Amino acid sequence: DRSGRRVLDLVAGAGTSSFLAGRATPTWGYGGLPFGGPTLRATRGDRVVVRVRNDLPETTTTHWHGMTLPATADGGPHQPIAPGETWTPEWTVEQPAATLWYHPHPHGSTERHVHRGLAGLFLVDDPEPTGLPDRYGVDDVPVVVTDRTFAPDGSFDEAGRTAHGLVGSTVLVNGAVRPYLAASSTRLRLRLLNASPARCYRVARSDGAPLVLVGTDQGLLPAPRDAADVLLTPGERAEVVVDLVPGARVWLRSLPQDLGAVSGTERSLGARDTLDLLELRAPADAAPPPPLPTTLPHDPALVLPAGATTRVLELGDDRINGREMDMRRVDEVVPAGAVELWELRNTHTRPHNLHVHDARGQVLGTHAWKDTVYVPPRSTVRVVFRFGRHADPVTPFMYHCHLLAHEDQGMMGQFVVV
Ligand code: C2O
Ligand code: CU
Ligand code: CU
Repeated sequence: DRSGRRVLDLVAGAGTSSFLAGRATPTWGYGGLPFGGPTLRATRGDRVVVRVRNDLPETTTTHWHGMTLPATADGGPHQPIAPGETWTPEWTVEQPAATLWYHPHPHGSTERHVHRGLAGLFLVDDPEPTGLPDRYGVDDVPVVVTDRTFAPDGSFDEAGRTAHGLVGSTVLVNGAVRPYLAASSTRLRLRLLNASPARCYRVARSDGAPLVLVGTDQGLLPAPRDAADVLLTPGERAEVVVDLVPGARVWLRSLPQDLGAVSGTERSLGARDTLDLLELRAPADAAPPPPLPTTLPHDPALVLPAGATTRVLELGDDRINGREMDMRRVDEVVPAGAVELWELRNTHTRPHNLHVHDARGQVLGTHAWKDTVYVPPRSTVRVVFRFGRHADPVTPFMYHCHLLAHEDQGMMGQFVVV
């Protein structure tokens, strides 16, 4: 608008999708889409205003996953939007380029709202050139992966639950079953998001060539790195580069995973499955792509200051540190801009991950920027987090398991930044 703000409009509404031939599926979506949501985009330094209107029949919220912002703009359970109402958060984008996303976060109903279809990407751009493909939809392509089980009438099955929530037998990529991409270039940058309620994916190429990992949840790596596969638990993102041979067809595929859990758990989570995600069809002829950049614009590694606060989070089943989520209880108080060590202990047998709002971090000793970290059963993961600079002693942010049924069951805590 005239004052230089980037004003985005987003409506959450109900619609009908056709995933299966001849069958209609009632779904929810953003921005007039029956399922999913438009990719939102903003550049570092932008003042962003989003007008979120709720046309759904029930109260929801819209959370900007991965965004550093004031707590009142976060869109967690404390910012409900009643049916017919519009919520207008505003913030300045103050973080490096990254693949973020947005989704509902109403306490106790997040899984159901996301499962109906509410999820979209929110890309943060940096003016600095990267040397990576950046033509959106041409060679810079979103790959939003989720899973559903269909009832005989075509509706999403919300009844067949596992201990980890809703695990689907059909994969949807960008809202489609087994889609293909007829690429016009042999080099693609794929922005992967695991938007599933519970299912994990181990993403690889079907031809055995490595993926080139260039980014994780919160931004680019110091340099491109070959990766045989990339494990994404719910809420995690990765940016990978795929070079194709002209005329070739390659599947992006999810392979069986070792989640470190007992086999019954892995089976019920679908970790034994091999799933085709997206077929990539290379153009018949194309000039070979230039060499990949040897370094990428990268936020320097976090250094844990002497005397930094360490917080221990014990991830028990449905509890964090023995407590169930309570909207009226503040569990942690974090100084604005603090760099802290969070020690995540999964003391039980179920797979969990941990997502922290308003924070960007690195697993101790690594350079990959994260906001959602897998914590396998009976293991401890140490993460150095840097928190946002917006103090608000009243409005809490959340940390929680991003297996959405676990979150809904109370595996969530609250912190304020002061
Ligand atoms: Cu992606 Cu608290 O959420
Ligand atoms: Cu989040
Ligand atoms: Cu969990």
